[in-house]
Amino acid sequence: MRNLNNKLFGKFLRYPCSVKSHDSRKHGLFHHTFKLLKQISNLNDVGNKTKDLCLVGAVFHDIGKIKSLHNYVEKSKNIYSYDFLIGHKQNSIEIFDDLSSRINNFPSIYHRLIKNIIIWTHNVDYDVPGTLPGKIISILDNTDAAISSLIEKDKKISVGRFSKLPYQKNYYYKAI
Ligand SMILES: [Fe+2]
Repeated sequence: MRNLNNKLFGKFLRYPCSVKSHDSRKHGLFHHTFKLLKQISNLNDVGNKTKDLCLVGAVFHDIGKIKSLHNYVEKSKNIYSYDFLIGHKQNSIEIFDDLSSRINNFPSIYHRLIKNIIIWTHNVDYDVPGTLPGKIISILDNTDAAISSLIEKDKKISVGRFSKLPYQKNYYYKAI
């Protein structure tokens, strides 16, 4: 079990967060998660229970990418694999289920709330009610992903140039 966890943790530290969306470089997954943890540590008005749930939720919200991106990272192949088909959120839930099942008497309410956080990342699921920790992680996650993506794109543009960025309707101008 220790070996398995070391393997999982090693991938968590090493993997990119995406192929080309944001934090798409070595250690990107850990860096993105760490930025969320830093933001959560500054939340002082939510109470300890919500803050703790946010911290654990942040660690697990993207962890499924170590399965989804396995082909891409380990075999230098395209991203498509069985685990990619399932999607990283479901992979995150499976990893969380596996690890939490090894803890005796893990409280079922926290189990459910952490899964709610994972499901709530990236998009609104109208079938799943949002919770305070779920919405906080969703906002922080989207914001960090958007800013990181913008910074990465900005580095590729020369000063004084206009450019069209993916998913943006107006032009982008690199002023400095
Ligand atoms: Fe994320």
